[in-house]
Amino acid sequence: YKVPKAVNEPVLAYGKGSKERESLLAMYKKMYNEKADIPLYIGSEQIKTGDTVSMHPPHDHQHELGVFHKADKKHIEKAIDTALEARKKWAKMPWESRAAIFLKAADLLVGPYRDRMNAATMLAQSKNMMQTEIDAVCELADFFRFNVEFMSQIYADQPISVEGIWNRMQYRPLEGFVYAVTPFNFTSIAANLPAAPAMMGNVVVWKPAETQVYSAQVIMEIFMEAGVPPGVINMVTGKSSMITDIVMNHKDFSGIHFTGSTPVFNSFWETIGNNIKKGLYRSYPRIVGETGGKDFVWMHHTADAKAVATALTRGAFEFQGQKCSAASRAYIPKSKWADVRKFMEADLKSIKMGSPENPENFVNAVIDKRAFDKLCGYIDQAKKDKDAEVIIGGNYDGSKGYFIEPTVILAKTPKYETMCTELFGPVLTVYVYEDKDWKEILEIMDQTSIYALTGAIFSQDRYVIDYATDALENSAGNFYINDKPTGAVVGQQPFGGARGSGTNDKAGSVWNLLRWISNRTIKENF
Ligand code: SER
Repeated sequence: YKVPKAVNEPVLAYGKGSKERESLLAMYKKMYNEKADIPLYIGSEQIKTGDTVSMHPPHDHQHELGVFHKADKKHIEKAIDTALEARKKWAKMPWESRAAIFLKAADLLVGPYRDRMNAATMLAQSKNMMQTEIDAVCELADFFRFNVEFMSQIYADQPISVEGIWNRMQYRPLEGFVYAVTPFNFTSIAANLPAAPAMMGNVVVWKPAETQVYSAQVIMEIFMEAGVPPGVINMVTGKSSMITDIVMNHKDFSGIHFTGSTPVFNSFWETIGNNIKKGLYRSYPRIVGETGGKDFVWMHHTADAKAVATALTRGAFEFQGQKCSAASRAYIPKSKWADVRKFMEADLKSIKMGSPENPENFVNAVIDKRAFDKLCGYIDQAKKDKDAEVIIGGNYDGSKGYFIEPTVILAKTPKYETMCTELFGPVLTVYVYEDKDWKEILEIMDQTSIYALTGAIFSQDRYVIDYATDALENSAGNFYINDKPTGAVVGQQPFGGARGSGTNDKAGSVWNLLRWISNRTIKENF
């Protein structure tokens, strides 16, 4: 079979005075005052439990966007039962029918739902127009369409048969249900984590991050309109530990698709391991996760200072440094540091900070008070530490929204705390090294890479590029040469890392989809 050839969704520019910009801003204003009331989605029911949590724009935290309803134990049990019931039909549905549903979801997203999806992500996650467009619309449509193409390739693959023997591969979803636990920072990831297993015939209990529930509702609306049958993807919100406890201690739990923090992921392995010991599950659950990162930029003295400065400004500060791929540590040779610093200061001086409603605001608010307090704490500590100096930014103001200036810390040692610890915010730490020590610094980088998600190297010397690529072989699952470490495009740079960054099952790829099937080989003699 041939499915429509996937191509990356073109990014709209939302230029000044354009009808796209006007239409999106009108939707933003409408949704700002809408007072959402978001239910649990279990099967065909939308349940309002009355136990609610308020939602606020991070850049305007005194304003209430509305509420979402929290599940209790019986709702989670109901979501699991409903999913297992829906599995009976969904798992047997021809894959072409499942593919058609997700192709339609992509079309609905880039068509009638585009403004609503972008406005929801702007309001509740504080992404500006450009950042939400590349995430919530383009990356998500790409996930749906490319995954359909990948699934068609998977299902087309059959073993050889010989005379008198017919061998077949029967592609089957996992026996049970999948649990998707998703982050706030990419609406596309939040939708893809339940969608990818569902495409492969699985049923899903989906728990979005509390700070992303607002756009998660739009995702559910798209799934329903596209024809995802009731019960195939059930969205529940509520106390994470309670939900995870019920889900993972269920005998039919068959896999987790996760993006979030390393400690949370570690706790999942522990729970699953204990349950395997007890013999709770019939099969080993699939554990697929993308976790923390401490993504690097390394510059060799043969590289161009302006290119590195731009990569740092964009890589470290777009979406307030809250991309899992964001540059958060940089290693710059001494002979180039003055130039890199000068270009970065010029870039950052021209940057505006404020509400995402104004597209000129390159920097918006960080996600919530917890993140704000944590990040400000690291900045204040760096202001005091003798091993560090705050050289750019360093101011913050949480009175209206959680605003933190793009901040650059200069570290006097490559092992300074913010060179190694994940901060997840608009804070970049730079270490300046002697040009001649470039090989030693690569070794230190590898040693201090407890995570291995993304990284970028800059050089114009092919020998150096090859050497660094080899020396950092295990330090980044997505490795960029002469480019920033963010902005992986589905179908072009499959995304994921190893070490403390996860299981490296490359989001938006054949390798990810393969984790959601449990095949049967059938041999028949004639
Ligand atoms: N595409 C994102 C990035 O690479 C991650 O999903 O920044």
